[in-house]
Amino acid sequence: MSPRLFLRLVPMLLMSLFLLPTLLNAQGVQSLPTQIPQHDAIVVGAAWYPEQWPETRWEEDLKLMEAANIKMVRIAEFAWSTMEPSEGHYEMGWLERAVAAAAKHHIVSVIGTPTAAPPAWLTQKHPEILRVEPNGQRVTHGNRAHGSSTSPVYREYCRKIAEEMAKRFGHNPNVAGWQIDNEYGYALMSQDDETRKQFQDWLQKKYKTLDALNSFWTTTYWSETYDNWSEIPIPVGGHNPGLMLEWKRFVTSAWSDYQANQTSAVRKYAEPRQFITGNFMGFFDGFDHYIISEPLTFASWDDYVGSGHVDPDFNGLSHDLTRGFKRANFWLIETQPGAVNWANVNNYLNKGEVRAMAWQAIAHGADAVSYWQWRSALNGQEQYHGTLVGADGTPVPFYEEVRQIGQEFSKVQEALRGTTNLSEVALLHSYDSHWAIQFQKHTNKYDDVGLLKSYYRVLRKLTESLDVISPYAPLGGYKLVVAPDLNVLPKDLANHLLDYVRNGGHLVLGPRSGMKDEHNELLTQRQPGYLAEALGARVEQYYALEKDFPASGDLGSGQVSIWAEQLGLLGSSAHTLLRYRKSNGWLDDQPAVVTSAYGKGRITYIGAVLDDKLMSAAASWMGKESGLRAPVLSVPDGVEVSVRSSGAKRVIVLINFAQEPRKIDLGKTMKLLLSGRQGQAVELAQYGVEVLQE
Ligand code: GLA
Repeated sequence: MSPRLFLRLVPMLLMSLFLLPTLLNAQGVQSLPTQIPQHDAIVVGAAWYPEQWPETRWEEDLKLMEAANIKMVRIAEFAWSTMEPSEGHYEMGWLERAVAAAAKHHIVSVIGTPTAAPPAWLTQKHPEILRVEPNGQRVTHGNRAHGSSTSPVYREYCRKIAEEMAKRFGHNPNVAGWQIDNEYGYALMSQDDETRKQFQDWLQKKYKTLDALNSFWTTTYWSETYDNWSEIPIPVGGHNPGLMLEWKRFVTSAWSDYQANQTSAVRKYAEPRQFITGNFMGFFDGFDHYIISEPLTFASWDDYVGSGHVDPDFNGLSHDLTRGFKRANFWLIETQPGAVNWANVNNYLNKGEVRAMAWQAIAHGADAVSYWQWRSALNGQEQYHGTLVGADGTPVPFYEEVRQIGQEFSKVQEALRGTTNLSEVALLHSYDSHWAIQFQKHTNKYDDVGLLKSYYRVLRKLTESLDVISPYAPLGGYKLVVAPDLNVLPKDLANHLLDYVRNGGHLVLGPRSGMKDEHNELLTQRQPGYLAEALGARVEQYYALEKDFPASGDLGSGQVSIWAEQLGLLGSSAHTLLRYRKSNGWLDDQPAVVTSAYGKGRITYIGAVLDDKLMSAAASWMGKESGLRAPVLSVPDGVEVSVRSSGAKRVIVLINFAQEPRKIDLGKTMKLLLSGRQGQAVELAQYGVEVLQE
């Protein structure tokens, strides 16, 4: 095993040992639970800002929360100026009283470190901690995410406040855990001399010599050669692909260090039972989330629809992505109470839609669903955002939907305790590959996350759970591993994938796979690079398409669009499953999809973006070829089936995202936990939900 791969696997293995047990077996891969000990197994929560209200109001808010079945509040993540009103003068009595008041209403607290909002005394004393924008201007005080994550001075202040908070709350029985910062400053980097110097030092540590860096980045091209580390710029786009990819990795490393500075401060005083999480944003790609998540107990995310309505496939995929960051259950630590205030059109979600979303989160492995926010501050930038109570302090109509969600959660506590998702299929998601494609899309129509989603959509129909994981994660338990976008595929990763195939797995690669090494250099083997030999085929040429072309073969017939690769067979091991038909002349009758047995397993390459019909056919073929279990239920279109399990216990969640009612035959009698009866069939209106136990 290469040192790089080893280093990436070690934290994953340690995490598995710590949280026992990750089950890797022939039946699939079971993730880990994240439930609060001695508390409800799944909880509804809200973001509560007691510092914005007179203390005399708290009791009323908490009573209303209890009545809505809210069991958790996330607090303090923007309250720095209240907790440390002047330097070194800490005022945390109010927070202690807020935590205690919540506990009287059976509500646990999750405390956020307030470092997304440094106070004015600090930015005035140290203006150098304010971020510099790409246009060279320093941001002014009065918004958030204005601190520079690379500033040593800022980090020191962050460490101190985190440590003071941990001293005060690390043993508080009513504090379940911690959130570090808030959405990690959207990964915005200060474009100042300090950051540039740190980037250059980071490169020097990694490459050791400028000769090595110049060679890996081919800097003779356009006279980019560097004679001194100090010459290397912060890329702003249009720069060398090697430089641009390393910048993204540096950003990841900077935010990892920023986070570690606080996790270590919290861990020093917090009891081990208190978790530490961070709130991510689905497919936000500012940094590599697999690396950032490593030291966290579990990952959380903020799920906002913005304009329009929930797209169940993309939302499900985003949950599974977050679960895959730690290969453990996760928390939905913020979600939309009806409407947001920042989208193009801040429309309200339909009645029942938020409830369906809450259940979808649970179905995909969330152990908490928390609404942002309880009540709008009377002033401040987010006055128009959705809430549970209005400016007058009484419930808005949406409050009732949350009350219902909480009531339903209470019906399934015991059924869902200790349960997680068990997956036979994994989709691989690589930030390196995503960035490399984004830097050079070659056709503006290429959308690698969209492609991931199109694979997800068809594969999720074959199975009630699917993992989205790093390509470096252990793969042994999966029957099928699909990598739609593995553009950066260095040798150590290729060996890891080949081991999986040799041991009996089925690896499916999508277009643009295996083109680059870890320096974002072109490989000197044709695609899929180090995997071409095992595939028994290679990419002769790739084509960005102006229009759709026909394709047909064992997978049936349909159209390909956006991107097509002409595959060439190397010897006789590979079988062609699909060929392009009359197209641009180059592609006519050439292989588009090939597959080959290799070791005890199989490797398949799909060289084009397939239409829905071909995607469905390809998914069915993959399912059969990989020997996936039959789905637990066969359901009509629009109904999502998910399973959470623990040993022999299986809990099935059904959600109807179709616009019309749907009837689902269960084939046997099951317990309908939400309806509180037994039945052999379920009828669901639009956004209808039922939870079944066998
Ligand atoms: C983000 C932030 C919250 C709030 C919401 C509004 O997710 O974390 O503080 O601003 O957006 O939608």
